[in-house]
Amino acid sequence: MTKRTLIGPFKQIIPMTGLALKGAISDNELDVIIEGGIVIENKVILATGNFDDLKSEYPQADIQLVKGNHVCLPGFVDAHTHICFGGSRAKDYAMRNAGKTYLEIAKAGGGIWDTVTETRKASTEELTKNTIKRANRHLKNGTTTLEVKSGYGLTVDEELKMLRAIKKANEKAMPELISTCLAAHMLPKDFEGTEKEYLKLISEKLFPVLKEENLTHRMDAFIEQSAFSADDIQAYFTKASELDFDITVHADQFSTNGSKVAVDHKAISADHLEASTDTEIELLANSDTIAVALPGASIGLGCNFTPARKLLDAGAALVIASDHNPGSAPMGDLLTQASILGTFEKLTNAEVLAGITFRAAAALKLEDRGKLEAGLLADLAVFHSDNYQDILYNQGNLKPCMIWKNGELVFD
Ligand code: NIG
Ligand code: FE
Repeated sequence: MTKRTLIGPFKQIIPMTGLALKGAISDNELDVIIEGGIVIENKVILATGNFDDLKSEYPQADIQLVKGNHVCLPGFVDAHTHICFGGSRAKDYAMRNAGKTYLEIAKAGGGIWDTVTETRKASTEELTKNTIKRANRHLKNGTTTLEVKSGYGLTVDEELKMLRAIKKANEKAMPELISTCLAAHMLPKDFEGTEKEYLKLISEKLFPVLKEENLTHRMDAFIEQSAFSADDIQAYFTKASELDFDITVHADQFSTNGSKVAVDHKAISADHLEASTDTEIELLANSDTIAVALPGASIGLGCNFTPARKLLDAGAALVIASDHNPGSAPMGDLLTQASILGTFEKLTNAEVLAGITFRAAAALKLEDRGKLEAGLLADLAVFHSDNYQDILYNQGNLKPCMIWKNGELVFD
């Protein structure tokens, strides 16, 4: 017999249902279920509603009582991270804060290349272990689904090592990990050839193995002066699309160009956008490409935030992700960063919460999560409070007290 459980009562359930994928959202558009309950069967939600009504409707369900005042939200989705890496860049951070330039840091052996060197030294097992550890830390902050990029290998074999480690980590980590290939992160310093030659090699030798071993269905590239140009990436993304990889782009971090590449290649998302101007904002808002703000990178580098308010007002879909990586975004705390972005960019609670739930799920093309409604995965983040507004108000300091992943209580 299948096991049914009724969880509750919750003072408030915020199901994030009935909201648009794109554009501004006011807080009074948020559905709030008072004294709510959630019926789950196996991994999925069977029903949400008033706890007492559900108790009469599902008399055979086991009851998991939640005592005291609690608010229940969909488990968070972090749509952009680089948590599979070796080494540390604490030295970069200290140098940057002491006023050293990007070039001075690179000359002292820092920057992305330092992480590439350390990641290449690490074994698959070490990378797997570290990825699980970091992913489980994210879970405790409410994240039940986490995207993880490669991009610190930068050879066919080293990128494969990273993506195999991410796949292995997904078997043991508490959040579900969605992998992305970021072999186009930068031209490796030890590659003898041009950007286009490197990308050609990767697309010919790596793409088929990714398919064979089912290592990822997502392809990312860093479009920036220090990485790859729109012209460099043209053939690479065309080949990736032909092979049915979903495209995502590190776009407009320091200079513009990336969001145009993303829209031209029908990318699912364009991420960063700290340098986007009104032109790029319009372009994204009028496309199906989701805009992903990465406040963790703004905080880590001391740079300006993504123009999230303008993007929403122009009609874009806005997601907020942590970008957790050893260089530009070492904090890795999505809820804190999302709250801070909200204060600087004047985002409503509804917009911030949408950016880390159903809109973030859409940025990963996941239609089975991000909202609390019948048929979707029972991924729940529960906070000790009687009012959902407390969650962002505490700016990350109010941690979840219970987490369900795929219908299992994985943290309390
Ligand atoms: O998303 N922008 C490029 N890539 C990463 C940084 C990676 C690193 O510094 O190690 C980012 O911020
Ligand atoms: Fe990134």
